[in-house]
Amino acid sequence: MLPLRLYIHVMDLQIEDRVAMVAASSKGLGKACALALAREGCRVSICARHSDELERVKDELLDIGPAHATRADVSSPEDLRNWYEETVDALGQVDILVTNTGGPPVKKFMELEDDEWRIGVQSTLLNVVTLSRLVLPGMQSRRWGRIVHLTSLVAKQPIDELTISSTIRSGLSGLTKTMANQFGPDRITVNAILTGHILTDRQYALAERRVHESGLSYDQYFNQAAAEIPLRRLGEPKEIGEVVAFLASERASYITGVSLQVDGGVIKSTW
Ligand SMILES: NC(=O)c1ccc[n+]([C@@H]2O[C@H](COP(=O)([O-])OP(=O)(O)OC[C@H]3O[C@@H](n4cnc5c(N)ncnc54)[C@H](OP(=O)(O)O)[C@@H]3O)[C@@H](O)[C@H]2O)c1
Repeated sequence: MLPLRLYIHVMDLQIEDRVAMVAASSKGLGKACALALAREGCRVSICARHSDELERVKDELLDIGPAHATRADVSSPEDLRNWYEETVDALGQVDILVTNTGGPPVKKFMELEDDEWRIGVQSTLLNVVTLSRLVLPGMQSRRWGRIVHLTSLVAKQPIDELTISSTIRSGLSGLTKTMANQFGPDRITVNAILTGHILTDRQYALAERRVHESGLSYDQYFNQAAAEIPLRRLGEPKEIGEVVAFLASERASYITGVSLQVDGGVIKSTW
């Protein structure tokens, strides 16, 4: 009889003890990224505007390893600087940055006020610029860094009601590429995730308007949405978190400048 050998091969992402900041992370996609990075051994710092949920997630992270939380609004540069400084004090220099935010208003072009555009630019684009500026000098001096921008499928496939998001998210793909070009020589990779339809509170908020307009029930609405996705279902937050952990890892050392669709195939274009 042949000897029975059991091979168990676990892919080590080699980011144990790396310090990761994950923005807008008390719920949904940000939380899923924070948990995925913590499970890979990272020391994770999170932020959000409301402290109750934030503290709950910090406790979940502390069950896994070292973690920190700061109450911060990503549209405020002062809050972001404070979060960054508290993170460095609590966990050490930042190796990994995941940018994220709440979604801009769900409105068509003529429904938007000037102020909503200004806030949208501040919270969806400028927060990414501010946070990147804070972490990059340290990454450059240590010659290692990973930046992952969470964006949206609307970067490639604009949606009418998501006017601000559609405008800014395609710009973020441009920013991802220019940052990748400029910081590649420092061994820093910069990538974006174009998120598809993922079941989070934000997804329910988007559904609310469409349910209201169409007269469908939530179940009917989600079944209809799933039927348009090649994988025939909406995604789970951890399906974003795990891809982000991979892109943030040593194993993804030759991937940079990519806007990666994690969307169950819903984006129709080939480019
Ligand atoms: N879910 C999807 O299907 C989907 C698809 C494409 C793109 N996206 C984009 O992905 C991002 C995250 O969406 P999600 O589905 O994870 O949303 P979510 O479940 O509503 O969670 C949003 C998280 O961000 C925090 N947040 C919101 N505004 C913030 C601010 N100004 N400063 C700091 N934290 C803030 C929230 O906490 P507080 O409220 O306490 O601040 C919460 O922790 C959004 O930009 C959304 O447009 C989502």
